[in-house]
Amino acid sequence: MVNTVATAPGDSATIAAEAPTDNQKLLDFVTEIAQLTTPDRIHWVDGSEQEYTQLTDELVEAGTLTRLTSPDFPNSFAAFSDPADVARVESRTFICSEQERDAGFTNNWVDPSEMRQTLSGVFDGAMRGRTMYVIPFVMGHLEAEDPKFGVEITDSAYVVASMRIMARIGADVLRKIEELDAFFVPAVHSVGAPLEPGQEDVPWPCNEEKYIVHFPETREIWSYGSGYGGNALLGKKCYALRIASAMARDEGWLAEHMVILKLTSPQGRSYHLSAAFPSACGKTNLALIDPTLEGWKAETLGDDITWIRPGKDGEFRAINPEAGYFGVAPGTGWHTNANAMRAIAKGNSIFTNCALTDDGGVWWEGMTEEPPAHLTDWKGNSWTPDSAEPAAHPNARFCTPIDQTDMLADEYFAPDGVKLDAILFGGRRKTTVPLVTQARDWNHGIFYGATLSSETTAAAEGAVGTLRRDPMAMLPFIGYDAGDYLKHWVEVSSEADPEKLPAIFLVNWFRRGRDGTIAWPGFAENTRVLKWIIERLEGTAEAVETPIGFTPTPDALDVEGLEITQEELEDAITVRPEEWRTELEDIDAWFSRFGESLPQSIQDELEELRSRVA
Ligand code: GDP
Ligand code: PGA
Ligand code: MN
Repeated sequence: MVNTVATAPGDSATIAAEAPTDNQKLLDFVTEIAQLTTPDRIHWVDGSEQEYTQLTDELVEAGTLTRLTSPDFPNSFAAFSDPADVARVESRTFICSEQERDAGFTNNWVDPSEMRQTLSGVFDGAMRGRTMYVIPFVMGHLEAEDPKFGVEITDSAYVVASMRIMARIGADVLRKIEELDAFFVPAVHSVGAPLEPGQEDVPWPCNEEKYIVHFPETREIWSYGSGYGGNALLGKKCYALRIASAMARDEGWLAEHMVILKLTSPQGRSYHLSAAFPSACGKTNLALIDPTLEGWKAETLGDDITWIRPGKDGEFRAINPEAGYFGVAPGTGWHTNANAMRAIAKGNSIFTNCALTDDGGVWWEGMTEEPPAHLTDWKGNSWTPDSAEPAAHPNARFCTPIDQTDMLADEYFAPDGVKLDAILFGGRRKTTVPLVTQARDWNHGIFYGATLSSETTAAAEGAVGTLRRDPMAMLPFIGYDAGDYLKHWVEVSSEADPEKLPAIFLVNWFRRGRDGTIAWPGFAENTRVLKWIIERLEGTAEAVETPIGFTPTPDALDVEGLEITQEELEDAITVRPEEWRTELEDIDAWFSRFGESLPQSIQDELEELRSRVA
């Protein structure tokens, strides 16, 4: 494949002559965007090692990347964003369906023709002075029965380098698109910072004005003004969740914000669990758990996004459509998440908004128990442990290839994925939600998902720590009406064998004890909760039926050797009906926002809960 085509892109004939493809749909797309955004050059991304080296060299030259020289971080780089471009921007994220009703109350909606007009304005000349990169990518397996392709056009080399870690990209994907003459999601990204002749670039170009726009019906993505992961790596949240959720509704599957974990018991029986937690609520940590109980083995398949399809035998099958981690760095350490640290230590990573150590490595809060004596913080200032501000941004990220994980399950490579045995829903709740509860049945489990709630985190702009409902941890990612989405969950199970539906659990690692601190030790000790879950699947663990579902009896949860007081354990696992009476008021208010589109079966679950906690 011809790698870079240096040309001032002009008419379609010139672009086509220099392109490494004769796929007409792709040529038309590239030509249209080149003519709109007027870049200086077009670079067709082949995904090769040499190309990655060339791009990262250029990014170092431009000051966007700092090459790490510490042997602890081989072939790795640090990036520092503009301080105003550090997280997903939910207020600037739009679902532009034809009908406002189809975007639902959880999304920002703008009429598609009005939005198209706005976008053609902001994208007009947006890539002037820059290179336009064309990235063919596939979410999920290239060998899948129905591979899900995309082509991201971006003017950010940082995005290209990150996409190479996060997704399967490049020449092989392009060949497959050509071979199948396949549909691909057109995804256009610009940092929104055109360069005038002679104008010097900044290390992290971006624009105060941001648009993260999805057209679910035509399956298009347009992102403007931000270079941050979730806003700019368009295969991730924009495609694999927002657009894919709309595809999934139409095609009878589920696109979810979940990890996939394989657990093997001491008896050698294996199970697959998925878990939906809102951003920065523990997905990556759970996905990479290092079991603390003798004889238990955990392997991971994915840490953020799961696509679930009803399989041929009536089971639910799950795959991870991604190829890398874009994990929250702070809190990830050798003592909390050694598997993530081991994957990171193999190198080939891009760190964003972490602190730099004096020996050319990176550091973030929680990496080690004691901070180094001196650092350069994410804003470039000299930092010591006495400094008032954290050294790394709370939403600092590591971007690391998933195949560097020692505990990666072989099934990660299987195009048809794994059979799901259990689904966990969870969030950050200081009160009310106990450590673990099992739903009575599938519909009750959907109620758990529909009413899932969490205190907000730094993963998105806005206040941290305010309680919000986050259905299935998908609040910012449902690409259509939230009530229709819940209805789809109810309906999709009719495709499956009722005997083979995954069991559903509600978990909360974050409940506070009476002393105000988090009662449950969490992290690797969550193994103990997973053990109870597996034993429930096997029918061997004891449980008590409470108004909200089945919880472990005090003896059923294996806490042997765990540092926890009796009080803390009680605070973690107890169902307090008075808290649930308050919760009901909040759920009522939440459900009232759905209007007509809330499925009756979910409303019925609420009424049952009401009568049980009365
Ligand atoms: P993700 O964004 O959902 O993948 O969340 P992460 O796994 O990256 O975790 C986000 C934050 O929650 C990090 O600061 C973690 O240290 C913290 N965290 C994760 N799991 C636990 C847990 O079991 N207990 C506690 N207390 N904190 C956790
Ligand atoms: P996460 O999402 O916080 O769920 O890992 C990444 C993002 O912010 O785009
Ligand atoms: Mn994560």
